[in-house]
Amino acid sequence: MKENAMTAKDTIEAARFIKTGVEHAALLSRLQKTCYLPQGEKHWSTESFLQTLTRGDIHAAILMCHDDPIGFYVVSVQTDQAEILSLGIIPTHQRKGFGRYMMMHILSLQKSTPIKSFFLDVRSDNMAAIALYEKVGFTPCGRRKAYYTLLDNSEVDAILMKMPVCDG
Ligand SMILES: CC(C)(COP(=O)(O)OP(=O)(O)OC[C@H]1O[C@@H](n2cnc3c(N)ncnc32)[C@H](O)[C@@H]1OP(=O)(O)O)[C@@H](O)C(=O)NCCC(=O)NCCS
Repeated sequence: MKENAMTAKDTIEAARFIKTGVEHAALLSRLQKTCYLPQGEKHWSTESFLQTLTRGDIHAAILMCHDDPIGFYVVSVQTDQAEILSLGIIPTHQRKGFGRYMMMHILSLQKSTPIKSFFLDVRSDNMAAIALYEKVGFTPCGRRKAYYTLLDNSEVDAILMKMPVCDG
């Protein structure tokens, strides 16, 4: 994975998603590590991704910019509910609109499925992610005390967030 500095050509126009299969487990683990390490968060091993990708409820994709993988998402779809399990944009490509672009792509899943609401949990101190989720329509709906254990063994609460895509 290249992590060269952002160039003027690294814009949304150059972005595309590739669907993932088990062959992408190692790449997904590396991408997640690149996204999570700066904030001291644990990432999933290649083995964890392998197990997750074989589940029938999983929708996962890698976001490419030109030929470089720059982000990923993993979503679980259970009948009419979708839970965003993990997502990230690598640091060199953050704050350029790719996160919002990825969220709109995830939310468009409701066009091809019976999804009526999206859920996620996020670290209570992850202001970037919370701002992104609120921007696309998520609202807080709960809190789990000490839900995350970080690499330094400190514990952080999770904020649960929800977004209905239709009434009821
Ligand atoms: C959260 C994350 C995906 C955002 O991706 P991104 O590509 O930087 O986001 P965008 O450039 O599309 O920004 C969209 C909005 O999110 C918010 N946002 C993004 N980064 C932010 C930051 N560092 N501080 C405050 N708000 C931020 C802003 O509201 C922004 O809108 P604006 O540009 O009009 O101000 C990215 O920071 C990331 O991967 N972080 C590490 C992994 C992670 O936290 N994943 C989520 C786990 S639940």
